[in-house]
Amino acid sequence: MNKKTVRDIDIKGKKVLVRCDFNVPFDENRKITDNRRIVAALPTIKYLIENDCKVILCSHLGRPKGEVKPEFSLDIVAAELSRLLGQEVKLAKDVVGPDARRLAENLKPGEVMLLENVRFEPGEEKNDDELSKAFASLAEVYVNDAFGTAHRAHSSTTGVAKYLPAVSGFLIEKELNFLGSALENPERPFMAILGGRKVSDKIGVIESLLEKVDVLMIGGAMAYTFFKAMGYNVGNSVCELDKLDLAKEVMEKAKTKGVKFMLPVDTKVGKEFKPDTESKTVKFSEIPDGWEGFDIGEETIKLYSEELKKAKTVIWNGPVGLFEFDQFAVGTNSIAKALADIDAVKIVGGGDSAAAVEKAGLADKFTHISTGGGASLEFLEGKKLPGIEALQDK
Ligand code: 3PG
Repeated sequence: MNKKTVRDIDIKGKKVLVRCDFNVPFDENRKITDNRRIVAALPTIKYLIENDCKVILCSHLGRPKGEVKPEFSLDIVAAELSRLLGQEVKLAKDVVGPDARRLAENLKPGEVMLLENVRFEPGEEKNDDELSKAFASLAEVYVNDAFGTAHRAHSSTTGVAKYLPAVSGFLIEKELNFLGSALENPERPFMAILGGRKVSDKIGVIESLLEKVDVLMIGGAMAYTFFKAMGYNVGNSVCELDKLDLAKEVMEKAKTKGVKFMLPVDTKVGKEFKPDTESKTVKFSEIPDGWEGFDIGEETIKLYSEELKKAKTVIWNGPVGLFEFDQFAVGTNSIAKALADIDAVKIVGGGDSAAAVEKAGLADKFTHISTGGGASLEFLEGKKLPGIEALQDK
């Protein structure tokens, strides 16, 4: 990585503002259901504590859209962080207001505090300059470790970096090393599995990966747009009728580039969008009217799993079926299992596929599971991430 990290500057004893991505899922009782993003931020926080820094953490949670909404308070994160660190993490009552200032001024070396949800401030998502200055005025150094939010140009991710020495934390460094080296210098065969709902959401990453991979496997609802483009009936399946030409172009491009482009050969269809709906498996070319495709079928699972055995590097982004419903989670779980069993560099590009791997209990069988959903997708598309661009070059 060509950006400075906390290792590259004199940080000893400094007051440091750290932007994390603590945007974690929580249930109706406000209980955190997956703490991976908090755990992933610990190496940087611990390093700063060990270096006697006064640590001021900040993050967003959800999308409160510039209003103070108690259900999006970071109190649940402060409690979880205190537990994981084994020391108290004080939560400010505001973001850059009097309480945040008072707590920041009174911090002692090695102490950690957390600002309230940065998206309670109307200026945050507008990258408002006054708010950026207010963030900067709290500290002497700015560290960005929020990989999951690096694709957003907001006050706490980019604006503040104008006013303080700005470097990356260890999580951003790790994410860029894994995702970057897989793309730039993969051991071959290099394969990608892309799932998800729409071709239009994934077209950027499909085009970028077609330049790099040897094999591209498609799953998820976007497969039905490809089937339709090939002239088949897709019943009630999700299908972007205005993207049929694009789907054809993608298949043509794969041919020209010599990329093996794999589509499901069978699909599990259901009558209705509900967990216990009647279902059956049919050939992709024989989806009946009145039925909707929700998962890849057994033949496809076999075909993709066999192909994956030859891979030396694999990137996986997006579940291959409607994995929230158990009967349509078989494809996604089987792909996770097939990947777990092979000896290759295996990278999961965040979001729902990362959640599926966690849910299947297979996380330790993967080389890297990104903490970024949208951010890792944009990185795989080859886009520059503003939160990283804003940091000092090495
Ligand atoms: C994410 O969960 O992808 C990040 O935390 C960014 O959240 P956002 O999509 O609300 O900006």
